[in-house]
Amino acid sequence: MMGTTHQTDTLIVGGGVIGCAIAYELAKAGVDVIVLEKETLGSQSTRAGAGMLGAQVEMTAPGPMYELGVKSRALFPKLREELLDISGIDMELHTPGIFRIAVDEDDRAALLERQRWQTECGQRAVWFEDEDLRGEMGDLVSPRYGALYLPDDHQVRNPQLLLALAASAKRLGVRIFEHTPMMGFLQEHGAVAGVKTADGVIRADRVIVAAGAWSGLLARQLGLDLPVFPVKGQSFLLDSYSPPTPFTIYTHGCYILPKKNGQVYVGATEEQQAGFDRRPNLRSLASLSTQAVELLPSLGDLPFSTPLAGLRPGSRDGMPYLGSVPGIDGLYVASGHFRNGVLLSAITGLVMAELLTGKETSVDLEAFSLKRAHVFG
Ligand code: GLY
Repeated sequence: MMGTTHQTDTLIVGGGVIGCAIAYELAKAGVDVIVLEKETLGSQSTRAGAGMLGAQVEMTAPGPMYELGVKSRALFPKLREELLDISGIDMELHTPGIFRIAVDEDDRAALLERQRWQTECGQRAVWFEDEDLRGEMGDLVSPRYGALYLPDDHQVRNPQLLLALAASAKRLGVRIFEHTPMMGFLQEHGAVAGVKTADGVIRADRVIVAAGAWSGLLARQLGLDLPVFPVKGQSFLLDSYSPPTPFTIYTHGCYILPKKNGQVYVGATEEQQAGFDRRPNLRSLASLSTQAVELLPSLGDLPFSTPLAGLRPGSRDGMPYLGSVPGIDGLYVASGHFRNGVLLSAITGLVMAELLTGKETSVDLEAFSLKRAHVFG
């Protein structure tokens, strides 16, 4: 084979928020790491995402996924300090909380039920009737059917989080290769031993597939049926020096996140039929704008900044795959985080680093196991 050969302990395929979080935690534990990214770091769903830490707003039932989300959310304040210390980059953790607005009687009943079980699980969840909501929002939100306020669901600036993770990982010795798509896996004696790129070979003791929506395609090259597929999300950013509310407003099909830098993020569609098409389109953005202005009329006067579109890594049960692949030595997966990549990045980095350094994991990974995938050849 022509070209350069690199050698590392752990090669991470995918330089999004998941790959960079794992790289950072492994580097902290003293492991030699290379991150391989086909375009630029965070250029896919990490960039298009909202940056919501919605452990309570995104989970509709108790269980392992809810617990994973709550655990991950709790890691962010310390992670912010650490990354700021190492890299000087602030992820801009913003903590006013999220109002989940009910859209009809059924939604109201479901949210009241959610308030019950989340409170029982020890989280804060406060019900607001419309009159109180108007008081809180200064008359900005169109009257609905009440709202559930989740004061501990926060948000970060996702591009800043990515930069902070990547810069810190680099400071700790991680090598990052951008604009380097992988061409195939290296296999020796039935085990994965690295990857081939257009420039040569990267040999590694372990390879972690953290390639977001592309992970299923890569896994196929090894005969692994990993049901991770693209679910397109379209959204847009508005410019504002002073957003109409500090709170995140979240309802069916539309959410509004005033960011710490003054911009307002409006998201997001959920499209399974779009395949790998990442272009924003007018119909989706028009429908999203209509919903956003109905919720918060003063948004209609804000200047438009950037349309965004990204591919969430969907999985059949909405839960990520985290761990080693039974039957394929040397191969690990951290993918399928669907709507919760930013939220789950902190815990994913932590548990994958624990797993790869032989420690007991902070979370039982059984529910996220690769036993849910299937080796076919
Ligand atoms: N986390 C929200 C979304 O994926 O739209």
